[in-house]
Amino acid sequence: MAPETRTQSQPEKRSEPTAATRVDANRPVAEPRPEDIDPTAVFDLEDLSVYYGSFRAIRNVDMTVCQKQITAFIGPSGCGKTTLLRCFNRMNDLVDIARVEGKVLYHGVNLYDSAVNPVEVRRRIGMVFQKPNPFPKSIYDNIAFGPKVAGVKGDLGEVVERSLRRAALWDEVKDRLKDSAMGLSGGQQQRLCIARALAVDPEVILMDEPCSALDPIATGRIEDLMEEIKSEYTILIVTHNMQQAARVSDRCAFFTAEVNETSDTRTGILVEFDRTEKMFSNPSDERTENYVTGRFG
Ligand SMILES: Nc1ncnc2c1ncn2[C@@H]1O[C@H](COP(=O)(O)OP(=O)(O)O)[C@@H](O)[C@H]1O
Ligand SMILES: [Mg+2]
Repeated sequence: MAPETRTQSQPEKRSEPTAATRVDANRPVAEPRPEDIDPTAVFDLEDLSVYYGSFRAIRNVDMTVCQKQITAFIGPSGCGKTTLLRCFNRMNDLVDIARVEGKVLYHGVNLYDSAVNPVEVRRRIGMVFQKPNPFPKSIYDNIAFGPKVAGVKGDLGEVVERSLRRAALWDEVKDRLKDSAMGLSGGQQQRLCIARALAVDPEVILMDEPCSALDPIATGRIEDLMEEIKSEYTILIVTHNMQQAARVSDRCAFFTAEVNETSDTRTGILVEFDRTEKMFSNPSDERTENYVTGRFG
C-alpha cells in the first residue's frame, strides 16, 4: 500500500514523517520523540516486505502490536508467517539471502537502523521455535547460559529457579537440575525453551508454532503458561491451529498468499488484523471468513 493511500484509509495512524525518518540536527536518528510513541504499542510495522533473493515472500505489511497482549498470526502454509515473525527480532539477518524493506519500529526505534545492535534486540525480544531445541547440556545450564553470556555474575541458582517457575516447569525438574535437558519429554523441553527465553528478562517472546510437535496435553500446558505470563510479556505466536489462536490470543492477524501469474510465485499479504473475538465471529474480509470457517480452497 502506498503511503498516501495508507494515510487516507487509516487516518488514525500517525502521519509521516516518523521519528525514525525525521532529520533533526539535535537528536540521533535512532532516538524517537516521546510524542511519537503510542504508550501501548510495542511494535509498529510500516510497509514491511521481505525478499529471499528476488523472491518477495511477504509484502507491504502495516501493523501495530500492543504490549502485554497475545497476538496470533494465522494463515495457510507458505504465506510468510515465519518470515514476518523473524523480522521482529532480526532473525532474518541470519539468512544470507533475506532482505527486509520498510520499517520495524520497536518503541519508535527502527530495529533495522544501522545503530541498533541485533544481539541486544534478541535479548529483549526472545524466540521459541517450532521444535524444542534445548542445548545438549543440563537443565540448569540451559537456563543459566543466557544470563551468563549477558554478564550476570555470581550464583545463577535464583535466576534458574525463577525462570523455571515462570515456565511452570520447576516442580517437575527441581530435583534433577543437573540431568541432561535431552531426557525431558517434548512438552517439558518446550517449557524449558520458554524458561530459557525468560531467563534474560525479555520484554517480548516470539513463538513460531510452539506446540506443533506436542500432544494435546502438553499443548494445553503451554497455552495455560502463555495465559499466565501475558500480564508481564508481549507475546507473538504463529499457529496453524485456529482453535489455538481463538483460545489464546487477544488480537489475530490473518495472512494469505497471492499468486503472481507471471512469475508463478506466491507472495504473502496481511488480509485482516483485529480483535480475535471479531476475527472469528464477524470478520470484515470474506477471505478471513472463508479461512476461519474452514471453507478455504
Ligand atoms: N530461507 C529461505 N530461503 C528462500 N525462501 C524461503 C526461505 N524461508 C522461507 N522461504 C519461502 O518464503 C515463503 C514464506 O515462507 P514461510 O515464512 O516459512 O511461510 P509460513 O511460515 O507461513 O508457512 C515460502 O514460499 C517459502 O518457501
Ligand atoms: Mg512457518
